[in-house]
Amino acid sequence: MRASQILLAALTGLGSLVEAYPNPDTTMDKRNSSATDRLVFAHFMIGITSDRTSANDYDDDMKRAKSIGIDAFALNIGVDPYTDTQLGYAYDSAAKNGMSVFISFDFNWWHTSQASEIGQKIAQYGVKPAQLKIDNKVFVSSFSGDGLDVAALRSAATGVELFFAPNFHPALGTDLSGVDGLLNWMAWPNNGNNKAPTPGANVTVQAGDEAYTKALGNKAYIAPASAWFSTHFGPEVSYSKNWVFPSDSLWFDRWNEILALGPRFVEIVTWNDYGESHYIGPLSSPHTDDGASKWVNDMPHNGWLDMAKPFIAAFKAGAKSVDSYVTSDELIYWYRPTPRGVNCDSTDTCMVTASNTSGNYFMGRPNGWEDMNDSVFVVSLFTSAATIQVTSGNNTQSIDAKAGANIYTVPMGVGDQSFSVTRSGKTVFSGKSLKPIIDGCVCGLYNFNAYVGSLPAGFSDPLGSAGIASLTSGLHVTTCSATPSLGVAAASLTPAAVAAQPTA
Ligand SMILES: *[C@@H]1O[C@H](CO)[C@@H](O)[C@H](O)[C@H]1NC(C)=O
Ligand SMILES: *[C@@H]1O[C@H](CO)[C@@H](O)[C@H](O)[C@H]1NC(C)=O
Ligand SMILES: *[C@@H]1O[C@H](CO)[C@@H](O)[C@H](O)[C@H]1NC(C)=O
Ligand SMILES: *[C@@H]1O[C@H](CO)[C@@H](O)[C@H](O)[C@H]1NC(C)=O
Ligand SMILES: *[C@@H]1O[C@H](CO)[C@@H](O)[C@H](O)[C@H]1NC(C)=O
Repeated sequence: MRASQILLAALTGLGSLVEAYPNPDTTMDKRNSSATDRLVFAHFMIGITSDRTSANDYDDDMKRAKSIGIDAFALNIGVDPYTDTQLGYAYDSAAKNGMSVFISFDFNWWHTSQASEIGQKIAQYGVKPAQLKIDNKVFVSSFSGDGLDVAALRSAATGVELFFAPNFHPALGTDLSGVDGLLNWMAWPNNGNNKAPTPGANVTVQAGDEAYTKALGNKAYIAPASAWFSTHFGPEVSYSKNWVFPSDSLWFDRWNEILALGPRFVEIVTWNDYGESHYIGPLSSPHTDDGASKWVNDMPHNGWLDMAKPFIAAFKAGAKSVDSYVTSDELIYWYRPTPRGVNCDSTDTCMVTASNTSGNYFMGRPNGWEDMNDSVFVVSLFTSAATIQVTSGNNTQSIDAKAGANIYTVPMGVGDQSFSVTRSGKTVFSGKSLKPIIDGCVCGLYNFNAYVGSLPAGFSDPLGSAGIASLTSGLHVTTCSATPSLGVAAASLTPAAVAAQPTA
């Protein structure tokens, strides 16, 4: 067996770890949406799924995304040799599972001179049953691509009419006359140059909304929504990059902004980009390791997916408040695994020079680290008011939470993280997080990714062996091995919480 086959054999047991899904919904098929439909997409990186061997390997992602109200995956493709194989699997799985998909051409790899090849690729996939169609046109998007000849693209896409909504940038003065809509990628507060804000250059996500909607007029806006951004690639890879964007309460704040704004489309950035820590899909979703497992191992984000569900429902209903779309009780919490001030200089991977041709590499703590607060963030999704108790290390705080969706912060304390919810003196649910906060360095690193937990506790979600293969590459400590190490939740469960547990 080749190494990749051994890894694949190890991955095949993963399905059983994933919780059961509700039955596929019977709501209107969204593939021929009318002009008034609001849809939600999630950006999906095909570039890390070369290890998938059949359409079945996409089924869990399709079902899970659909179950929370995501209508389509934006399939991000480069030019890797496995791209067509994986696109075929994804389209087939989407068709089986009542999901839609569309291609998002990544212009880190494609060139704007390739309008004709891109048009042909669209024509090849646009006729497949799972293709997302808007106003009966084949939906297509991109990452970047300013300067592409849109008329040439349309004429090369033989036999299909396009709804072309790329990630062009109005600020670059790009001719927008040929597009039907635009995706704004910048889901994070930034400095206007793809790095953390500074006091002199501080661009909100809403400023991006304003620039795009102004440039678009009546054309469709795909508003971005992201939960987090942290990346920490050192010289162990050729694409060294090391920065964060302010992310603390972003996921909650951004969804409220989306409800207020009411764009036609929302794109969640992303489903499975582990390298930049903005995944909301499972760790166990089969993928290869680009080196991200160093900060991704034992860091599930599934609670963020749960949090999005009532917001997506509210968005599609045109509601400005999520509160009446919260239909069951859940507590979602997140925090970084260490206080931001811990000193990892002697063991971190980004303490030496590395290629910086991208301008994305910084030494030591990630650029922008000062923007991340030492807090535990708690989102309550409550059907009626309840009291939350949070114990973060030595800090205990009691919070009277209203019905609906609300966010609270508690100062981060080193040690165990425990949560309970009571209503009229009775415990609704309580439990200890699987991940304590440590006064140290995870695998020797500055790890600014977030651990996300929930009550009732989520399903066990370890990285598969392909997803963790590069964990020790370049590490400066020997105390860390390439194995998931979270236990299984031992929450004190109420009967309702027991019923919500996976049966697998
Ligand atoms: C979408 O519209 C096309 C063209 O009108 C039609 O052939 C197709 O059956 C429709 N698909 C769905 C899922 O309604
Ligand atoms: C950027 O502005 C926000 C308010 O919009 C503020 O909270 C934040 O501290 C500012 N960041 C910097 C680095 O100045
Ligand atoms: C982070 O801390 C600063 C300073 O205490 C505070 O102004 C800000 O609101 C905090 N941000 C979040 C998301 O809690
Ligand atoms: C990498 O380039 C960026 C942009 O020029 C710069 O801000 C940063 O300091 C550089 N990093 C290092 C380690 O020199
Ligand atoms: C927590 O409290 C205990 C007992 O007072 C103390 O020994 C310990 O140092 C405290 N831990 C932290 C992280 O403050």
